[in-house]
Amino acid sequence: MKSNLSRIGITIPENLLQQFDKHITERGYTNRSKAVCDMIRDSLTQEEWKSEKVEVVGAVAIVYDHHTRDLNARLTEIQHQHHQYILSTTHVHIDHHNCLEIIALKGPGNKIRALGETLIATRGVLHGKMIFSTTGKEFHHH
Ligand code: NI
Repeated sequence: MKSNLSRIGITIPENLLQQFDKHITERGYTNRSKAVCDMIRDSLTQEEWKSEKVEVVGAVAIVYDHHTRDLNARLTEIQHQHHQYILSTTHVHIDHHNCLEIIALKGPGNKIRALGETLIATRGVLHGKMIFSTTGKEFHHH
């Protein structure tokens, strides 16, 4: 596999560069190029999630009290209605009341974003977060 790397020079305000270097060092980066590439890929990935054509992967994590009336049934119903977009569901019983469910998703960006938002917005869900990732296909043009 041939690597296709370009070297670029950019102009950036001194204080912005200092802030950037501090920011990426705190996040464990030892290499400025890797940090910039990651931010570019993340920005492009955000666009994929607006698309109805590009297939993306991601996950939604929700925390809820399983004693909440009908909630388990509602969450299961939503997942069955969208089974074609759901890769896996991991259920963790956190304590006597609360459950953590991590649902891995794959499908058109706009469709699975809406699905994740629906799960998070379901009445009784205490907290929810989505991870917006990518299949990576768009980043491999050889
Ligand atoms: Ni549980």
